[in-house]
Amino acid sequence: MKNENDNSVASNVDAQPVVMHSTAPGVGVATGESGVVGRLKRVMNQPNDSTQKTLLVTVIMCLVCSVVVSAAAVLLRPTQASNAALDRKRNIVQVAGLLKEGGDVEAAFKNVETRIVNLDTGEFTDQFKDVDYDQYVAARDPNLSIALDKEADIASIGRRAQYAEVYLIGGEDNFTKVVLPVHGLGLWSTLYGFVSLEDDLTTISGLKFYKHAETPGLGGEVDNPVWQGKWKGKLAFDEAGDVKIEVIKGVVDSAASSASYQVDGLAGATLTSRGVSQLLRFWLDDRGFGGFLENLKQREAS
Ligand SMILES: Cc1cc2nc3c(=O)[nH]c(=O)nc-3n(C[C@H](O)[C@H](O)[C@H](O)COP(=O)(O)O)c2cc1C
Repeated sequence: MKNENDNSVASNVDAQPVVMHSTAPGVGVATGESGVVGRLKRVMNQPNDSTQKTLLVTVIMCLVCSVVVSAAAVLLRPTQASNAALDRKRNIVQVAGLLKEGGDVEAAFKNVETRIVNLDTGEFTDQFKDVDYDQYVAARDPNLSIALDKEADIASIGRRAQYAEVYLIGGEDNFTKVVLPVHGLGLWSTLYGFVSLEDDLTTISGLKFYKHAETPGLGGEVDNPVWQGKWKGKLAFDEAGDVKIEVIKGVVDSAASSASYQVDGLAGATLTSRGVSQLLRFWLDDRGFGGFLENLKQREAS
């Protein structure tokens, strides 16, 4: 006996079944289900070129992709944070000349003591001992930073955090080098890097930028190891204690009395070169780490 509700093809070859997986446009399947699931099934059983099915598949794909991307972002966050921390350590030990080719960054960093300095007083602070302090995040917080007026802002950074990390190679009481974070505007971008000073707190042992968007081959030559090598042994301050180091236009005359305070300019990149001079002057004088360096010198002398 014929069952009128039976919609399967196999049940009755003579009967016209309700079409399942029809390719005829606009023909759907009577699933018998109502509600959202039923409606979704009916749309999915429409032909592939139907507008409704195309839209539904697009929406499903978007949802699946956003879930995958969000999950990846959340799951990879700890890895990204530890990679960023390792990268920071690598830059610090590299600029201080502690990392040999293929050397172990963590092992080299064991010799480094990280402290936070109040840039206004030049004193160490333990205020952020239990928090993950980020000077660049703090620079955007009006409670933790100051706005720089045009005259003071020679590095074109807008705001300066009140506290900054410093890295003492060999430890606070017996340091052999001090590494300071620096940043400032080049031509197209803000350059972020580290400058390393010998224990006389005047002789530069290295300068390295780890983030910028200057033009490769022009301002991007700040990354060239040959140019980076030119900083070693240069003097940051003159005998009066004023910041004297600068990147000049052209090549340094090694016979000139000013040669110890000068580094060759980057060819075709005068503006990036000037930016490097300006950011060093900002961070090494009283606007930046000047007070801290003065305090350290006095501690060493006493
Ligand atoms: C495509 C392009 C990219 C440039 N990139 C830089 C750069 O990264 N840093 C820089 O100082 N000058 C860059 N310049 C050159 C500057 O526009 C400017 O001419 C130069 O800094 C002047 O310095 P000079 O006297 O050494 O040529 C670039 C120029 C062009 C056309």
